Amino acid sequence: ISTTTTSMIEAHTYLAKYYHHLLLNTEEGKEALQYLLDRGFTLEAIEKFGIGYSLERWDAVTNILQRRGYSLSLMEEAGLVIRREQDGNYFDRFRNRIMFPIHNLQGKVVAFSGRSLGEDTPKYLNSPETTIFTKGRILYNYHQSRAHMRKKQRAILLEGYADVIAAYKAGYEETIATMGTALTEEQAKTIRRTVDQVIISFDGDAAGISAAFKAANMLIQVGCEVKIAQLPEGLDPDDYVKKYGAEKFRTAIIEASLSFMAFKLYYLRQGKNLQDESVRMKYIHDVLQEVAKLNKPIEIEHYINTLSKDFSISVEALQAELSNIHRQTK
Ligand code: GTP
Ligand code: MN
Ligand code: MN
Ligand code: MN
Ligand code: MN
Repeated sequence: ISTTTTSMIEAHTYLAKYYHHLLLNTEEGKEALQYLLDRGFTLEAIEKFGIGYSLERWDAVTNILQRRGYSLSLMEEAGLVIRREQDGNYFDRFRNRIMFPIHNLQGKVVAFSGRSLGEDTPKYLNSPETTIFTKGRILYNYHQSRAHMRKKQRAILLEGYADVIAAYKAGYEETIATMGTALTEEQAKTIRRTVDQVIISFDGDAAGISAAFKAANMLIQVGCEVKIAQLPEGLDPDDYVKKYGAEKFRTAIIEASLSFMAFKLYYLRQGKNLQDESVRMKYIHDVLQEVAKLNKPIEIEHYINTLSKDFSISVEALQAELSNIHRQTK
């Protein structure tokens, strides 16, 4: 580990404490603290996740870092300050935001994500990619959840930081989230090294459903067993816990999650009139196309038998069709 890396991590660790202190103990942090409490964040969760607040000033962090002897050009490389082209002066990257410290897999603070207090855009401002922070490598909360993932033998993958915190309130600590981007192969492999089973609980909107499909396929590719928890249209886990409470989130969402296959079948069925013969034939073909992607014989047999029963088609005919699909996709 080089001295520049050490110095960058040190600065992040120091600032995480500074932001956290501003949120909890200062007049300037009161509005941000109230915002979080209004959203249902508990003080205990604020502690556990080290949440903080950055002042509405251009030079607060810049001055502190300089006073503590950090090179500002190195701090710019670390993404903590920005250098203005015109005059070469430095200013704070994060201003008037709720600060979520981002830890690397080993538990060191290497980045921040700052949420605006109101409707300001961007809603979340992230640290840029740096030598110590690669979005596609890190999983939010992994360092705290790893032991819980191992113990529970599963991971719960969420979309947002607020969702991880809401799930924590609901009693789940085996949680992780991506940094607002698609799950990478490297992240999937990191998860796979820790657990076999992953429950994906993304937002109940088109973007969330599409991202859940992609993440599920990536996880299956690295050998995970995937389940999908379905949220009602327009709600994310944080919204859901607030609206219906922790108990309902546990029983109706997380513990009611479907296997990825069952979830796909549910989507294939949506809005289709299976009384119509051609719609029904297309549906059966689409289901077989999904069955063709399975590799466990008992699962394949289970879905073939189910189709056979549901639509009064012989197992032989379904298997012949499945062979056709295998031939075509080779
Ligand atoms: P809240 O509104 O605070 O509850 O956030 P959310 O997590 O529900 O946000 P949303 O569902 O819109 O987005 C999911 C995740 O995408 C967030 O947790 C962020 O990681 C990321 N994200 C959302 N908006 C932005 C943005 O404006 N910029 C960046 N870089 N990431 C974002
Ligand atoms: Mn504290
Ligand atoms: Mn969303
Ligand atoms: Mn959301
Ligand atoms: Mn949300």
